[in-house]
Amino acid sequence: MKLTGSFTLNILKHMKSALIIIDREGDILVLNDSAGKILRLDSETEYSGKKSREVLSTYPRLLELFRISFEMHTLPDRAELEIINAHTGDRKTIGYTLSPVFDDESNRLATAMFFKDLTAVEQEETKERIQDRLVALGMMAAWLAHEIRNPLASIKVNAGLLHKGEKDGQKMQLSDEILSEVKKLDRIITQTLDFVKQKPINLQECNINEIITDSVKKNLHSYHSIDVWYAFSEIGTVMLDAHQIDQALGNIINNSYEAMPDGGTLTISTGLTPSNAGDYVPEEVSKHVVRDEMNIQIVIEDTGAGIAEEVLDKIFTPFFTTKSGGSGLGMSLTQKIVSDHWGFVDVTSKLGVGTKFIVVLPLYRVKN
Ligand SMILES: Nc1ncnc2c1ncn2[C@@H]1O[C@H](COP(=O)(O)OP(=O)(O)O)[C@@H](O)[C@H]1O
Ligand SMILES: [Mg+2]
Repeated sequence: MKLTGSFTLNILKHMKSALIIIDREGDILVLNDSAGKILRLDSETEYSGKKSREVLSTYPRLLELFRISFEMHTLPDRAELEIINAHTGDRKTIGYTLSPVFDDESNRLATAMFFKDLTAVEQEETKERIQDRLVALGMMAAWLAHEIRNPLASIKVNAGLLHKGEKDGQKMQLSDEILSEVKKLDRIITQTLDFVKQKPINLQECNINEIITDSVKKNLHSYHSIDVWYAFSEIGTVMLDAHQIDQALGNIINNSYEAMPDGGTLTISTGLTPSNAGDYVPEEVSKHVVRDEMNIQIVIEDTGAGIAEEVLDKIFTPFFTTKSGGSGLGMSLTQKIVSDHWGFVDVTSKLGVGTKFIVVLPLYRVKN
């Protein structure tokens, strides 16, 4: 594919915002001056018409992002990405928005990425001040959590005792509901704490299918009639932060559960999909892991209420919630955890039909 119209091209080339447009075949249509500057590419070269795999070979995460964008239904808006130059180890944080490019027949031709370099902003003193505040907020949240958790634990124990000694179905359901509300409060506390804490990821050997089945057990409560179907592929031992991935997937599963108050079906599949990132491994984990040239794909699909199109791209925004008593932190935490694992989250949904989350993670194996 080729872009025409020298007037438009000129505007795109010289505009202040960094812009890269890549088509389905991986050919670069536009890579403007600002983009070249941020990525430290040679400013004399003309990049349109060149293969992105060659020009951007030192930025595997960017290549991966573009490739995956053609499979995504909800493209990231105002997201952040840390890109690392695979040769020099140079790090940059970029803020970006992806937009689809269509032809007259609504065929998806290309993906446009508008971005800016946030590294400079990050280094500013203001960032430090925000960091200080986050630390204070973290301490406050921890204190509050402690004060709430103890009484909560005793409510939980007592409701459990009531449930045990009870034969009356209606009373059993009531105590069940107390337990489920307690779990909800507990989740809000955990999510708030995790949100302010910023835990680093700690890769360990684990089995993704087991993490999923455990997470389902933890998040589906007994008195709802939800059928769970698994379609697992044998993926073997992978390197992930089991605790954090459990949380990330648990937040999705819990939302599915809450979206099906009258019951429904939850289908979870795991599998491998091709990756564009080759055997690239970020330096901080390269001592412990090697990369299989594939991605792990986890699909979690429910037959619940669905999400209105207007809010679909807001669900990852912190504090966005449509529930009374919701924290609005679940999906933003999920996105953060997955992104810390160098992966991506996508979502599609239809009101009244259901919602499908797709989590893509790089396939890391233990290095022997
Ligand atoms: N599976 C789902 N079905 C329907 N709506 C969903 C689903 N997952 C997320 N949402 C929507 O995204 C919003 C944000 O989710 P989340 O960040 O987990 O916060 P919370 O669950 O506390 O509201 C929810 O309030 C809901 O509107
Ligand atoms: Mg939630």
